[in-house]
Amino acid sequence: MARQKTIFVCQNCGYKAPKWLGRCPDCGSWNSFVEELTEIGPQEKGKRQNLADRPQRIDTVTLDKNARNKTGLSEFDRILGGGVVPGSLVLIGGDPGIGKSTLILQVVHKLAQKGLKTLYISSEESIQQMKMRAQRIGADSSELYLLSGTCLEDVIDRLNELAPQIIVIDSIQTIFTESLSSAPGSIGQVREVTTRLMNLAKTSGRAIFLIGHVTKDGAIAGPKVLEHLVDTVLYFEGDGSHMYRILRSVKNRYGPTNEIGVFEMMDNGLKEVGNPSEIFLEERSNDVSGSVVISCMEGSRPLLVEMQALVCSSSLAIPRRTTIGVDPNRVSLLVAVLSKRGGVNLSNKDIFINVAGGIRVDEPAIDLGIISTTASSFLNKPIPRNTVTFGEVGLSGEVRGVSQTELRLKEALKLGFSRCLISKKSIKALKGKIDMEIIGVSSVMDLLEVLF
Ligand code: TYD
Ligand code: MG
Repeated sequence: MARQKTIFVCQNCGYKAPKWLGRCPDCGSWNSFVEELTEIGPQEKGKRQNLADRPQRIDTVTLDKNARNKTGLSEFDRILGGGVVPGSLVLIGGDPGIGKSTLILQVVHKLAQKGLKTLYISSEESIQQMKMRAQRIGADSSELYLLSGTCLEDVIDRLNELAPQIIVIDSIQTIFTESLSSAPGSIGQVREVTTRLMNLAKTSGRAIFLIGHVTKDGAIAGPKVLEHLVDTVLYFEGDGSHMYRILRSVKNRYGPTNEIGVFEMMDNGLKEVGNPSEIFLEERSNDVSGSVVISCMEGSRPLLVEMQALVCSSSLAIPRRTTIGVDPNRVSLLVAVLSKRGGVNLSNKDIFINVAGGIRVDEPAIDLGIISTTASSFLNKPIPRNTVTFGEVGLSGEVRGVSQTELRLKEALKLGFSRCLISKKSIKALKGKIDMEIIGVSSVMDLLEVLF
Protein backbone atom coordinates (compact mmCIF):
# COMPACT_ATOMS: atom_id res chain seq x y z
CA MET A 1 0.00 0.00 0.00
CA ALA A 2 1.36 3.42 -0.95
CA ARG A 3 2.04 5.57 2.08
CA GLN A 4 -0.36 8.49 2.48
CA LYS A 5 1.10 11.98 2.43
CA THR A 6 2.00 13.31 5.81
CA ILE A 7 3.07 16.67 7.05
CA PHE A 8 4.57 17.98 10.29
CA VAL A 9 2.49 20.55 12.11
CA CYS A 10 3.53 22.78 14.99
CA GLN A 11 1.09 22.04 17.83
CA ASN A 12 1.52 25.53 19.17
CA CYS A 13 0.78 27.75 16.17
CA GLY A 14 -0.19 25.42 13.33
CA TYR A 15 2.88 26.08 11.15
CA LYS A 16 3.31 23.32 8.58
CA ALA A 17 6.59 21.86 7.38
CA PRO A 18 7.37 18.87 5.14
CA LYS A 19 10.03 17.62 7.58
CA TRP A 20 10.35 17.45 11.32
CA LEU A 21 11.91 20.54 12.88
CA GLY A 22 13.29 20.97 16.35
CA ARG A 23 12.18 24.56 16.63
CA CYS A 24 9.23 26.22 14.96
CA PRO A 25 10.46 29.04 12.68
CA ASP A 26 7.16 30.85 13.15
CA CYS A 27 6.40 30.87 16.87
CA GLY A 28 9.78 29.74 18.14
CA SER A 29 8.54 26.91 20.36
CA TRP A 30 10.76 23.87 20.73
CA ASN A 31 9.88 20.28 20.00
CA SER A 32 6.33 21.09 18.98
CA PHE A 33 6.15 19.32 15.61
CA VAL A 34 3.87 16.31 15.25
CA GLU A 35 3.31 14.24 12.16
CA GLU A 36 -0.22 14.39 10.72
CA LEU A 37 -1.98 13.11 7.62
CA THR A 38 -2.37 15.83 4.99
CA GLU A 39 -5.76 14.68 3.81
CA ILE A 40 -8.20 11.86 4.32
CA GLY A 41 -6.92 8.82 2.48
CA PRO A 42 -8.66 7.93 -0.82
CA GLN A 43 -10.22 4.79 0.64
CA GLU A 44 -11.89 6.77 3.37
CA LYS A 45 -13.09 9.70 1.32
CA GLY A 46 -16.29 8.27 -0.09
CA LYS A 47 -17.22 6.50 3.11
CA ARG A 48 -18.62 9.36 5.16
CA GLN A 49 -21.04 7.81 7.61
CA ASN A 50 -24.35 9.40 8.33
CA LEU A 51 -23.83 9.43 12.04
CA ALA A 52 -26.21 12.22 12.87
CA ASP A 53 -29.06 11.30 10.59
CA ARG A 54 -31.95 13.50 11.74
CA PRO A 55 -32.53 15.86 14.62
CA GLN A 56 -34.76 14.14 17.17
CA ARG A 57 -37.02 15.58 19.82
CA ILE A 58 -35.53 14.81 23.21
CA ASP A 59 -38.74 13.34 24.60
CA THR A 60 -38.95 10.82 21.78
CA VAL A 61 -35.47 9.44 22.37
CA THR A 62 -35.67 6.16 24.24
CA LEU A 63 -32.94 4.63 26.33
CA ASP A 64 -32.26 0.95 26.51
CA LYS A 65 -32.02 0.19 30.23
CA ASN A 66 -30.12 -3.04 29.66
CA ALA A 67 -27.60 -1.42 27.37
CA ARG A 68 -24.74 -1.70 29.83
CA ASN A 69 -22.87 -4.94 30.14
CA LYS A 70 -22.20 -5.69 33.78
CA THR A 71 -18.85 -7.38 34.32
CA GLY A 72 -19.70 -8.90 37.68
CA LEU A 73 -16.63 -7.26 39.24
CA SER A 74 -18.70 -4.84 41.30
CA GLU A 75 -15.86 -2.40 42.03
CA PHE A 76 -15.11 -2.11 38.33
CA ASP A 77 -18.77 -1.75 37.36
CA ARG A 78 -19.30 0.99 39.91
CA ILE A 79 -16.36 2.99 38.58
CA LEU A 80 -17.69 2.79 35.04
CA GLY A 81 -21.08 3.94 36.31
CA GLY A 82 -22.84 0.59 36.20
CA GLY A 83 -21.17 -1.54 33.57
CA VAL A 84 -19.53 -1.35 30.17
CA VAL A 85 -21.35 0.89 27.69
CA PRO A 86 -21.40 -0.50 24.14
CA GLY A 87 -19.53 1.76 21.74
CA SER A 88 -17.42 3.34 24.46
CA LEU A 89 -13.69 3.85 24.46
CA VAL A 90 -12.12 3.35 27.88
CA LEU A 91 -8.50 4.21 28.61
CA ILE A 92 -6.69 2.62 31.55
CA GLY A 93 -3.37 4.13 32.54
CA GLY A 94 -0.87 3.08 35.15
CA ASP A 95 2.76 2.39 35.97
CA PRO A 96 4.40 -0.64 34.42
CA GLY A 97 3.80 -3.80 36.43
CA ILE A 98 0.93 -2.39 38.45
CA GLY A 99 -1.51 -4.93 37.01
CA LYS A 100 -3.31 -3.23 34.12
CA SER A 101 -3.16 -6.25 31.85
CA THR A 102 -4.28 -8.51 34.69
CA LEU A 103 -7.24 -6.29 35.56
CA ILE A 104 -8.49 -5.98 32.00
CA LEU A 105 -7.99 -9.65 31.29
CA GLN A 106 -10.12 -10.41 34.33
CA VAL A 107 -12.78 -7.97 33.15
CA VAL A 108 -12.98 -9.38 29.63
CA HIS A 109 -12.90 -12.91 31.00
CA LYS A 110 -16.02 -12.12 33.01
CA LEU A 111 -17.67 -10.58 29.96
CA ALA A 112 -16.71 -13.57 27.83
CA GLN A 113 -18.22 -15.89 30.42
CA LYS A 114 -21.49 -14.05 29.90
CA GLY A 115 -21.32 -14.94 26.23
CA LEU A 116 -19.90 -11.73 24.76
CA LYS A 117 -17.29 -12.33 22.12
CA THR A 118 -14.10 -10.61 23.25
CA LEU A 119 -10.73 -10.11 21.63
CA TYR A 120 -7.60 -9.26 23.61
CA ILE A 121 -4.95 -7.76 21.35
CA SER A 122 -1.49 -7.45 22.80
CA SER A 123 1.30 -5.70 21.00
CA GLU A 124 3.69 -6.29 23.88
CA GLU A 125 3.33 -9.98 24.59
CA SER A 126 3.07 -13.18 22.59
CA ILE A 127 -0.02 -15.37 22.73
CA GLN A 128 1.84 -17.83 24.96
CA GLN A 129 2.68 -15.11 27.47
CA MET A 130 -0.94 -13.98 27.50
CA LYS A 131 -2.07 -17.57 28.02
CA MET A 132 0.26 -17.88 31.01
CA ARG A 133 -1.37 -14.89 32.66
CA ALA A 134 -4.81 -16.18 31.75
CA GLN A 135 -3.99 -19.48 33.44
CA ARG A 136 -3.06 -17.73 36.66
CA ILE A 137 -6.40 -15.99 36.84
CA GLY A 138 -8.33 -18.96 35.51
CA ALA A 139 -9.54 -17.32 32.31
CA ASP A 140 -10.51 -20.08 29.91
CA SER A 141 -13.77 -18.99 28.35
CA SER A 142 -14.37 -20.13 24.78
CA GLU A 143 -15.55 -16.63 23.83
CA LEU A 144 -12.20 -15.05 24.73
CA TYR A 145 -9.83 -14.68 21.77
CA LEU A 146 -6.19 -13.63 21.90
CA LEU A 147 -4.19 -11.86 19.21
CA SER A 148 -0.65 -10.61 19.13
CA GLY A 149 -0.04 -7.78 16.67
CA THR A 150 1.34 -4.28 16.36
CA CYS A 151 -0.03 -2.91 13.09
CA LEU A 152 -3.41 -1.18 13.33
CA GLU A 153 -4.42 -1.99 9.75
CA ASP A 154 -3.81 -5.72 10.34
CA VAL A 155 -5.67 -5.58 13.61
CA ILE A 156 -8.69 -3.91 12.00
CA ASP A 157 -8.78 -6.62 9.32
CA ARG A 158 -8.86 -9.29 12.05
CA LEU A 159 -11.55 -7.37 13.89
CA ASN A 160 -13.73 -7.35 10.81
CA GLU A 161 -13.31 -11.11 10.42
CA LEU A 162 -14.04 -12.01 14.03
CA ALA A 163 -16.55 -9.25 14.89
CA PRO A 164 -16.01 -9.25 18.67
CA GLN A 165 -18.20 -7.08 20.91
CA ILE A 166 -15.45 -6.22 23.36
CA ILE A 167 -11.92 -5.33 22.26
CA VAL A 168 -8.78 -4.73 24.30
CA ILE A 169 -5.69 -3.01 22.94
CA ASP A 170 -2.64 -3.55 25.15
CA SER A 171 -1.03 -1.03 24.78
CA ILE A 172 -1.88 2.07 22.76
CA GLN A 173 1.78 3.17 22.73
CA THR A 174 3.06 0.07 20.99
CA ILE A 175 0.50 -0.15 18.21
CA PHE A 176 1.09 1.85 15.03
CA THR A 177 -0.58 2.81 11.79
CA GLU A 178 1.17 2.39 8.45
CA SER A 179 -0.04 5.75 7.23
CA LEU A 180 2.36 7.69 9.47
CA SER A 181 6.11 7.29 9.36
CA SER A 182 6.77 8.34 12.94
CA ALA A 183 7.65 5.76 15.57
CA PRO A 184 5.00 3.93 17.63
CA GLY A 185 4.26 5.86 20.80
CA SER A 186 4.85 9.29 19.27
CA ILE A 187 2.08 11.83 19.65
CA GLY A 188 1.10 11.67 16.00
CA GLN A 189 0.79 7.88 16.05
CA VAL A 190 -1.06 7.68 19.33
CA ARG A 191 -3.53 10.34 18.25
CA GLU A 192 -4.17 8.83 14.84
CA VAL A 193 -4.60 5.29 16.19
CA THR A 194 -6.92 6.44 18.96
CA THR A 195 -9.04 8.51 16.56
CA ARG A 196 -9.49 5.52 14.27
CA LEU A 197 -10.39 3.26 17.16
CA MET A 198 -12.83 5.88 18.39
CA ASN A 199 -14.57 5.89 15.01
CA LEU A 200 -14.62 2.12 15.04
CA ALA A 201 -16.18 2.03 18.50
CA LYS A 202 -18.83 4.63 17.69
CA THR A 203 -19.86 3.20 14.33
CA SER A 204 -19.86 -0.47 15.31
CA GLY A 205 -21.15 -0.19 18.88
CA ARG A 206 -18.23 -2.26 20.19
CA ALA A 207 -16.65 -1.35 23.48
CA ILE A 208 -12.88 -0.84 23.32
CA PHE A 209 -10.47 -0.84 26.25
CA LEU A 210 -7.13 0.86 25.66
CA ILE A 211 -4.23 0.31 28.00
CA GLY A 212 -1.82 3.22 28.25
CA HIS A 213 1.56 3.67 29.88
CA VAL A 214 2.19 6.45 32.27
CA THR A 215 5.14 8.82 32.00
CA LYS A 216 7.52 9.61 34.84
CA ASP A 217 5.45 12.56 35.97
CA GLY A 218 2.28 10.52 36.08
CA ALA A 219 0.42 11.51 32.90
CA ILE A 220 -0.60 9.00 30.29
CA ALA A 221 2.12 9.01 27.66
CA GLY A 222 1.10 10.49 24.34
CA PRO A 223 -0.04 13.31 26.52
CA LYS A 224 -3.41 14.79 27.38
CA VAL A 225 -4.31 14.34 23.73
CA LEU A 226 -5.50 10.86 24.53
CA GLU A 227 -7.60 11.87 27.49
CA HIS A 228 -9.63 14.27 25.35
CA LEU A 229 -10.39 11.68 22.73
CA VAL A 230 -11.69 8.84 24.84
CA ASP A 231 -14.95 8.51 26.79
CA THR A 232 -13.53 7.30 30.07
CA VAL A 233 -10.11 7.60 31.67
CA LEU A 234 -9.18 5.31 34.55
CA TYR A 235 -5.91 5.29 36.46
CA PHE A 236 -4.65 2.18 38.17
CA GLU A 237 -2.33 3.16 40.97
CA GLY A 238 -0.73 2.05 44.21
CA ASP A 239 2.92 1.55 44.89
CA GLY A 240 4.54 -1.76 44.15
CA SER A 241 5.40 -2.50 47.76
CA HIS A 242 1.77 -2.52 48.85
CA MET A 243 -0.59 -5.26 47.81
CA TYR A 244 -3.41 -2.83 47.37
CA ARG A 245 -4.21 -1.27 44.04
CA ILE A 246 -6.57 1.60 43.48
CA LEU A 247 -8.55 2.15 40.33
CA ARG A 248 -9.63 5.75 39.97
CA SER A 249 -11.85 7.37 37.35
CA VAL A 250 -10.72 10.83 36.31
CA LYS A 251 -13.03 11.29 33.35
CA ASN A 252 -16.25 9.51 32.58
CA ARG A 253 -18.84 10.46 30.01
CA TYR A 254 -21.22 7.79 31.28
CA GLY A 255 -20.83 7.93 35.03
CA PRO A 256 -19.33 9.60 38.08
CA THR A 257 -15.72 10.73 38.34
CA ASN A 258 -13.28 10.56 41.21
CA GLU A 259 -14.80 7.24 42.11
CA ILE A 260 -12.29 4.71 43.40
CA GLY A 261 -12.23 0.94 43.58
CA VAL A 262 -9.78 -0.99 45.72
CA PHE A 263 -8.22 -4.26 44.66
CA GLU A 264 -5.70 -6.59 46.19
CA MET A 265 -3.11 -8.39 44.04
CA MET A 266 -3.17 -12.10 44.84
CA ASP A 267 -1.45 -15.15 43.35
CA ASN A 268 -4.44 -15.73 41.14
CA GLY A 269 -5.17 -12.22 39.98
CA LEU A 270 -6.83 -9.19 41.51
CA LYS A 271 -9.40 -9.52 44.26
CA GLU A 272 -11.92 -6.82 45.07
CA VAL A 273 -11.79 -5.23 48.48
CA GLY A 274 -15.34 -4.59 49.61
CA ASN A 275 -14.69 -2.42 52.63
CA PRO A 276 -11.48 -0.46 52.05
CA SER A 277 -11.67 1.62 55.24
CA GLU A 278 -11.20 -1.54 57.26
CA ILE A 279 -7.95 -2.47 55.54
CA PHE A 280 -6.53 1.04 55.71
CA LEU A 281 -7.04 1.09 59.47
CA GLU A 282 -6.07 -2.51 60.11
CA GLU A 283 -2.54 -1.95 61.34
CA ARG A 284 -3.04 1.14 63.45
CA SER A 285 -0.86 1.15 66.52
CA ASN A 286 -2.20 1.94 69.95
CA ASP A 287 -2.14 5.43 71.41
CA VAL A 288 0.88 7.02 69.80
CA SER A 289 1.15 10.71 69.08
CA GLY A 290 0.91 11.96 65.50
CA SER A 291 -1.90 9.75 64.32
CA VAL A 292 -5.53 10.51 63.62
CA VAL A 293 -8.23 9.01 61.45
CA ILE A 294 -9.90 11.18 58.84
CA SER A 295 -13.02 10.54 56.84
CA CYS A 296 -12.60 11.64 53.25
CA MET A 297 -14.83 11.18 50.24
CA GLU A 298 -13.56 9.28 47.25
CA GLY A 299 -16.20 9.87 44.62
CA SER A 300 -19.49 8.86 46.14
CA ARG A 301 -17.99 6.73 48.87
CA PRO A 302 -16.55 7.75 52.24
CA LEU A 303 -13.18 6.31 53.11
CA LEU A 304 -11.48 6.31 56.48
CA VAL A 305 -7.71 6.56 56.47
CA GLU A 306 -5.03 7.13 59.05
CA MET A 307 -3.09 10.36 58.76
CA GLN A 308 0.32 10.21 60.44
CA ALA A 309 2.73 12.99 61.29
CA LEU A 310 6.22 13.12 62.70
CA VAL A 311 7.59 16.42 63.94
CA CYS A 312 11.20 16.46 65.07
CA SER A 313 14.02 18.95 65.52
CA SER A 314 15.79 19.87 62.35
CA SER A 315 19.49 20.29 61.80
CA LEU A 316 18.95 21.96 58.46
CA ALA A 317 18.80 25.65 57.67
CA ILE A 318 15.54 25.08 55.81
CA PRO A 319 13.60 22.39 57.68
CA ARG A 320 12.14 19.53 55.70
CA ARG A 321 8.48 19.11 54.83
CA THR A 322 8.09 15.66 53.35
CA THR A 323 4.72 14.16 52.50
CA ILE A 324 3.47 10.85 51.18
CA GLY A 325 -0.10 10.64 49.96
CA VAL A 326 -0.96 14.33 50.34
CA ASP A 327 -0.07 17.49 48.46
CA PRO A 328 3.11 19.03 49.97
CA ASN A 329 1.92 22.56 49.21
CA ARG A 330 -1.23 21.99 51.20
CA VAL A 331 0.86 20.75 54.12
CA SER A 332 3.15 23.80 53.99
CA LEU A 333 0.10 26.04 54.04
CA LEU A 334 -1.49 24.25 56.98
CA VAL A 335 1.76 24.22 58.92
CA ALA A 336 1.91 27.99 58.46
CA VAL A 337 -1.68 28.33 59.68
CA LEU A 338 -0.91 26.16 62.70
CA SER A 339 2.15 28.28 63.56
CA LYS A 340 0.46 31.62 63.14
CA ARG A 341 -3.08 30.93 64.36
CA GLY A 342 -2.44 28.10 66.77
CA GLY A 343 0.71 29.57 68.28
CA VAL A 344 2.72 26.41 67.70
CA ASN A 345 6.29 27.20 66.70
CA LEU A 346 7.32 24.82 63.95
CA SER A 347 9.97 26.94 62.25
CA ASN A 348 12.92 24.73 63.28
CA LYS A 349 11.15 21.41 62.94
CA ASP A 350 11.25 18.78 60.22
CA ILE A 351 7.72 17.65 59.43
CA PHE A 352 6.80 14.37 57.78
CA ILE A 353 3.22 13.54 56.85
CA ASN A 354 2.12 10.12 55.69
CA VAL A 355 -1.20 8.57 54.74
CA ALA A 356 -1.03 4.96 55.88
CA GLY A 357 -1.74 2.19 53.39
CA GLY A 358 -0.27 3.81 50.28
CA ILE A 359 -3.38 5.70 49.23
CA ARG A 360 -3.46 9.33 48.01
CA VAL A 361 -6.07 11.66 49.43
CA ASP A 362 -6.79 14.98 47.88
CA GLU A 363 -9.67 17.04 49.18
CA PRO A 364 -10.02 20.00 51.55
CA ALA A 365 -11.66 17.86 54.23
CA ILE A 366 -8.28 16.40 55.17
CA ASP A 367 -7.04 19.78 56.49
CA LEU A 368 -8.30 19.27 60.01
CA GLY A 369 -6.63 15.88 60.08
CA ILE A 370 -3.25 17.28 59.01
CA ILE A 371 -3.43 20.03 61.62
CA SER A 372 -4.50 17.69 64.44
CA THR A 373 -1.91 15.06 63.75
CA THR A 374 0.91 17.59 63.36
CA ALA A 375 0.00 19.27 66.62
CA SER A 376 -0.31 15.89 68.31
CA SER A 377 3.19 14.88 67.23
CA PHE A 378 4.66 18.24 68.19
CA LEU A 379 3.13 18.10 71.67
CA ASN A 380 3.77 14.36 71.88
CA LYS A 381 0.21 13.82 73.08
CA PRO A 382 -1.83 11.08 71.42
CA ILE A 383 -5.29 11.77 70.09
CA PRO A 384 -7.79 9.26 71.53
CA ARG A 385 -8.16 6.21 69.32
CA ASN A 386 -11.90 6.54 68.96
CA THR A 387 -11.69 9.98 67.34
CA VAL A 388 -12.28 10.80 63.72
CA THR A 389 -12.04 14.26 62.16
CA PHE A 390 -12.59 16.17 58.94
CA GLY A 391 -13.03 19.75 57.82
CA GLU A 392 -11.45 22.46 55.72
CA VAL A 393 -9.15 25.01 57.32
CA GLY A 394 -8.80 28.53 55.92
CA LEU A 395 -5.83 30.89 56.11
CA SER A 396 -7.27 32.80 59.03
CA GLY A 397 -7.48 29.57 60.99
CA GLU A 398 -11.24 29.14 60.63
CA VAL A 399 -12.68 25.65 60.29
CA ARG A 400 -15.19 25.23 57.49
CA GLY A 401 -17.78 22.62 56.80
CA VAL A 402 -17.46 20.12 53.98
CA SER A 403 -19.98 18.23 51.89
CA GLN A 404 -21.52 14.87 52.80
CA THR A 405 -21.01 15.23 56.56
CA GLU A 406 -23.63 12.65 57.37
CA LEU A 407 -22.26 10.01 55.02
CA ARG A 408 -18.75 10.43 56.41
CA LEU A 409 -19.99 10.12 59.97
CA LYS A 410 -22.02 7.03 59.21
CA GLU A 411 -18.96 5.30 57.79
CA ALA A 412 -17.01 6.21 60.94
CA LEU A 413 -19.80 4.91 63.13
CA LYS A 414 -19.85 1.66 61.21
CA LEU A 415 -16.17 1.15 61.97
CA GLY A 416 -16.61 1.76 65.67
CA PHE A 417 -15.61 5.40 66.11
CA SER A 418 -17.51 7.15 68.87
CA ARG A 419 -16.18 10.71 68.83
CA CYS A 420 -15.78 13.20 66.02
CA LEU A 421 -14.44 16.68 65.54
CA ILE A 422 -16.02 18.69 62.75
CA SER A 423 -16.80 22.29 61.96
CA LYS A 424 -19.53 23.95 64.05
CA LYS A 425 -21.52 24.81 60.96
CA SER A 426 -21.65 21.21 59.74
CA ILE A 427 -23.41 20.14 62.92
CA LYS A 428 -26.39 22.33 62.07
CA ALA A 429 -26.66 20.71 58.67
CA LEU A 430 -26.94 17.25 60.20
CA LYS A 431 -30.49 16.08 59.79
CA GLY A 432 -30.47 12.51 61.01
CA LYS A 433 -29.40 11.56 64.50
CA ILE A 434 -25.92 10.10 64.66
CA ASP A 435 -25.11 8.05 67.71
CA MET A 436 -21.74 9.64 68.40
CA GLU A 437 -20.17 12.37 70.47
CA ILE A 438 -20.02 15.20 67.97
CA ILE A 439 -17.81 18.15 68.83
CA GLY A 440 -17.96 21.34 66.77
CA VAL A 441 -14.88 23.51 66.41
CA SER A 442 -14.79 26.87 64.71
CA SER A 443 -11.06 27.64 64.65
CA VAL A 444 -7.66 26.03 64.96
CA MET A 445 -7.38 27.45 68.50
CA ASP A 446 -10.66 25.74 69.36
CA LEU A 447 -9.40 22.47 67.96
CA LEU A 448 -6.21 22.51 69.98
CA GLU A 449 -8.17 23.29 73.14
CA VAL A 450 -10.56 20.41 72.62
CA LEU A 451 -7.83 17.94 71.72
CA PHE A 452 -5.05 18.70 74.17
P1 TYD B 1 0.66 -7.02 34.72
O1 TYD B 1 -0.82 -7.16 34.63
O2 TYD B 1 1.45 -7.64 33.64
O3 TYD B 1 1.02 -5.48 34.84
P2 TYD B 1 0.97 -4.32 33.71
O4 TYD B 1 0.17 -4.79 32.56
O5 TYD B 1 0.34 -3.16 34.42
O6 TYD B 1 2.38 -4.01 33.36
O7 TYD B 1 1.08 -7.67 36.12
C1 TYD B 1 1.83 -7.01 37.08
C2 TYD B 1 2.37 -7.84 38.20
O8 TYD B 1 1.37 -8.56 38.87
C3 TYD B 1 3.42 -8.82 37.79
O9 TYD B 1 4.63 -8.43 38.41
C4 TYD B 1 2.99 -10.14 38.35
C5 TYD B 1 1.89 -9.79 39.29
N1 TYD B 1 0.80 -10.78 39.31
C6 TYD B 1 0.41 -11.36 40.50
O10 TYD B 1 0.96 -11.10 41.57
N2 TYD B 1 -0.63 -12.26 40.50
C7 TYD B 1 -1.28 -12.61 39.34
O11 TYD B 1 -2.22 -13.42 39.38
C8 TYD B 1 -0.85 -12.00 38.11
C9 TYD B 1 -1.53 -12.34 36.81
C10 TYD B 1 0.18 -11.09 38.15
MG1 MG C 1 0.81 -5.14 30.58
